[in-house]
Amino acid sequence: MTSVQSELISSIRSIPDYPKPGIVFRDITTLLGNPKTFRRAIDELVHPYAGTKIDKIAGIEARGFILGGAIAHQLSAGFVPIRKKGKLPHETVRIAYSLEYGVDEMEMHKDAIVPGEKVILVDDLIATGGTAEGAAKLLQQMGAEIVAACFIIDLPELGGRRKLEALGVDVRTLIS
Ligand code: PRP
Ligand code: ADE
Repeated sequence: MTSVQSELISSIRSIPDYPKPGIVFRDITTLLGNPKTFRRAIDELVHPYAGTKIDKIAGIEARGFILGGAIAHQLSAGFVPIRKKGKLPHETVRIAYSLEYGVDEMEMHKDAIVPGEKVILVDDLIATGGTAEGAAKLLQQMGAEIVAACFIIDLPELGGRRKLEALGVDVRTLIS
């Protein structure tokens, strides 16, 4: 493990039995609240794409918005929010998905992506991969070329990475 990885791991707080019994919730608010670890995480997520033309960062509500906004700024890319249903004001495409502790539906604006645009999908964590798989399917339906899906945290025993790889999406995570 690198020193950056151990720094990131020790900056994340684990909350047992949240939001449901049996779930260990990985809380990144402690990482975000520390200027050094927030910057480190963004730098690590961005550096493979420095100098690559990326049109849009697609961030998954809610924690993907915080990371995605910072990454979009660093890469001079646009930002596309992928939101829980009912929050976006214009015409949307919608998909149902399941995650480690529930089911929901997510949406993006129909005109958020021009077919062929190069997009990086961003969230804080991949667990079962249900959320990211739903987001990747929406982006692919809209004609996006997904360059990669990036997360700070992978929970590898839940197999999320394989769901994205089955869609042909390259997955990048910083810590497990
Ligand atoms: C968390 C996390 C991912 C998703 C991962 O979000 O930020 O989006 O769960 O789970 P999965 O890989 O099993 O699909 P959550 O739905 O809790 O939403 P929030 O960011 O709005 O709290
Ligand atoms: N999303 C899905 N599983 C999670 C976990 N264990 N911690 C934080 N976010 C999650």
